[in-house]
Amino acid sequence: MNIQLDMKAAERRAPLIEKLHAIQEEEGYLPAERIAEVAAETGLSPAQVMGVATFYNHFHLRPPGKHTIKVCDGTACHVKGAGNLLERIQTELNIKPGESTEDGLFSLEVVACLGACSMAPAIVIDDTVHGRVTPKELRRILNSYRRRR
Ligand code: FES
Repeated sequence: MNIQLDMKAAERRAPLIEKLHAIQEEEGYLPAERIAEVAAETGLSPAQVMGVATFYNHFHLRPPGKHTIKVCDGTACHVKGAGNLLERIQTELNIKPGESTEDGLFSLEVVACLGACSMAPAIVIDDTVHGRVTPKELRRILNSYRRRR
């Protein structure tokens, strides 16, 4: 019976997730007014729609930052300290994965593998791969993007 209930819940959620994907593709994130529209269309409360949107890491509730930082947490990078690197970035920028900084400069994402395993731990900012990133190097890299404003 629980499996049946879970299947029905998943069937109800699928069209909602499709709508959220379409909005994010169009807007780059999920604006509050669009969440309210989806709630009205689906008969759910805005809180229920937000619950689904916040459950999945790939939905963004704020506009994407000017620069997107992707931190690899694949096996090679994980072994080489990607977890510490991610913590440092979160502390330095005061954001979590899926969020953007208040000044709109950076967004943060965690990815499985960037295809740069020999350079672990690796991050990508926009289209540039940064490998063997140490905490000191991280600060230098972030500052170089800050200076580009
Ligand atoms: S595991 Fe990080 S680049 Fe492959």
